[in-house]
Amino acid sequence: MGFRGRSIRIRAAVAAGLLLAALALLTVIPIAGLSNSAGQKSLFSAVLNAATSATSLDRKPAATATRGTFTGVASCAGTTCHGRMEADGKVVRQDELQRWQEPSTQGGAHSRAFAVLGGARSRQIAATLGIGDPTAATECLGCHATPTSGPRGDRFLTQDGVGCEACHGPAGGWIASHYAVGASHATNVSNGLVPLDRPAARAAVCLDCHFGSDRPGQFVTHRIMAAGHPRIAFELDLFSTLQAHHDEDADYVSRKGRPDSLRLWAVGQALALERSLSLYAGARGTEGVFPEFYFLDCHSCHRRIYDQDSRVKSWEANPGRPIPPGMPPYNDENIIMLSAAAQVAAPALAARFESDSRAFHAAMGRDRASSVAAARRLAASAAALAAQFASAPPGGDMAFAIVERIAGQAIAPRFTDYEGSVQAVMGLDTLLNALVKSGRVTVGAAAGIRADINRAYAAVREPNSFRPGDFRMALGSAARGIGALR
Ligand code: HEC
Ligand code: HEC
Ligand code: HEC
Ligand code: HEC
Repeated sequence: MGFRGRSIRIRAAVAAGLLLAALALLTVIPIAGLSNSAGQKSLFSAVLNAATSATSLDRKPAATATRGTFTGVASCAGTTCHGRMEADGKVVRQDELQRWQEPSTQGGAHSRAFAVLGGARSRQIAATLGIGDPTAATECLGCHATPTSGPRGDRFLTQDGVGCEACHGPAGGWIASHYAVGASHATNVSNGLVPLDRPAARAAVCLDCHFGSDRPGQFVTHRIMAAGHPRIAFELDLFSTLQAHHDEDADYVSRKGRPDSLRLWAVGQALALERSLSLYAGARGTEGVFPEFYFLDCHSCHRRIYDQDSRVKSWEANPGRPIPPGMPPYNDENIIMLSAAAQVAAPALAARFESDSRAFHAAMGRDRASSVAAARRLAASAAALAAQFASAPPGGDMAFAIVERIAGQAIAPRFTDYEGSVQAVMGLDTLLNALVKSGRVTVGAAAGIRADINRAYAAVREPNSFRPGDFRMALGSAARGIGALR
């Protein structure tokens, strides 16, 4: 399946099968389409094929591999390592390479990330920006290839796209020891493996590319978007599920503890907001004499103008954003989700978060200096929430309560714009999945209300004809559907 057109890709895919994908991983049933077919084998990229056939039996790391060295995908891809055709490894699947390359799923997106830079859309973006060849442009490679903070080994290839080490960290320090008898997760981590099992560590990695960072080449400015780059939507738990190439089986739990979707969602919301505000408060926050538009609600500027005697009002006042009418508000998708999560799971911090977020919106209507000060305070509130969610995770029936809040009287009127609404649907989907994974809702019952969730996705399918009122109705019935499963 090809999901063309950014605004539909995630949602269509999710509607079609997030739940199934999540459950297949849980119960270690191979997902249909990921089976080991002949067609599948031919999909291996020529680059990797060449690299792995030359080196598949050679498990020794390259001579240059020391701690901090990026050794390249080929060094993980041996047929006795992570390049198996079957998921028959004792500890981990060992077919991770295939899943990372699977072209029919979002799981394969990272291996394609470099290749898209050679396509027509990228060339057109680069031509508009005047940055030359996109496959060589710093502005693109920071996210469409493996960003390297250390030396590159002999087998490192930029063309491999977002390779294993983009997330798992430079392998130089642990590649030779991580499969040895007696190696533990803790020793691997102390040798430089990124502890992606920890929500905060994972969020930090994903957000670099799925929101942006202050490092070179890791930010999609409004200028890049205006040149044709798709907008970026992200939710940590949902996107983790979509790209997963591991099984959360008993063995995984014994090594790393039981993963918790609700916690991943909540920590992900808090750290996404913290990232956004810290970047806004820093050098990324301005462009020319303007604030950087990437941080703002897109449709507050991108609306039709009506000029006639009987007024046509195409925007709605938003009770969570005390900013004067006629000014573009900050994109508050994560602020809204966090308000709901804090009220349920961190009530002691909820009031502070609420007043900091209102103060921040209001400061956006004054001047940059006060908006930066308010952004720093709100970022600190978000960090405090992240710490609380990570140490005392929201548990039990809290997912039901959060769903109820999101669609309830206090929060729902804040869904006046597209981004916040997309985040709300992804949130409902994730929270429902969390309930299924924790055994509070059966698979059958969840499948029974799938149509309600799909209607909410449908209400955000087309950004340009987004209607907040219709969306809130769809959201309300999806939330009632979930509530009825309690
Ligand atoms: C901050 C990280 C970041 C930077 C910088 C970046 N991109 Fe992207 N790009 C992404 C992400 C993330 C997506 C996927 C968006 C989604 O689907 O959620 C993407 C998607 C795309 C797509 C659509 C891919 C598809 O499969 O349809 C194209 C084309 C693209 N980027 C080109 C570029 C070009 C050209 C540049 C440099 C001018 C660039 N990108 C810079 C992160 C980035
Ligand atoms: C986009 C980020 C990303 C990329 C790229 C990526 N991984 Fe992962 N990987 C993860 C996450 C997240 C997990 C689950 C969390 C964890 O590490 O326990 C994971 C889990 C794994 C596991 C299972 C760990 C366990 O303890 O059970 C293996 C093995 C693995 N990845 C290997 C690879 C290999 C090999 C590649 C390259 C072919 C790769 N990964 C590319 C993010 C990524
Ligand atoms: C080095 C940059 C980078 C990092 C780190 C990264 N991604 Fe990505 N990711 C991308 C790019 C670029 C794309 C789009 C590729 C394309 O569509 O061609 C993408 C696509 C995806 C997609 C498919 C989205 C879609 O619309 O089809 C998912 C899911 C995803 N990433 C999840 C994650 C998760 C989860 C993490 C953290 C564990 C992560 N990514 C870390 C760069 C990155
Ligand atoms: C503060 C106002 C403002 C905000 C907020 C804003 N934009 Fe823009 N956008 C503009 C302006 C001004 C242009 C340039 C239009 C022109 O030259 O006529 C533009 C152009 C664009 C274009 C190119 C349109 C075309 O016809 O080529 C796209 C795409 C775009 N913006 C997307 C976005 C996205 C996505 C967001 C949210 C992340 C966003 N914009 C937020 C003001 C804004």
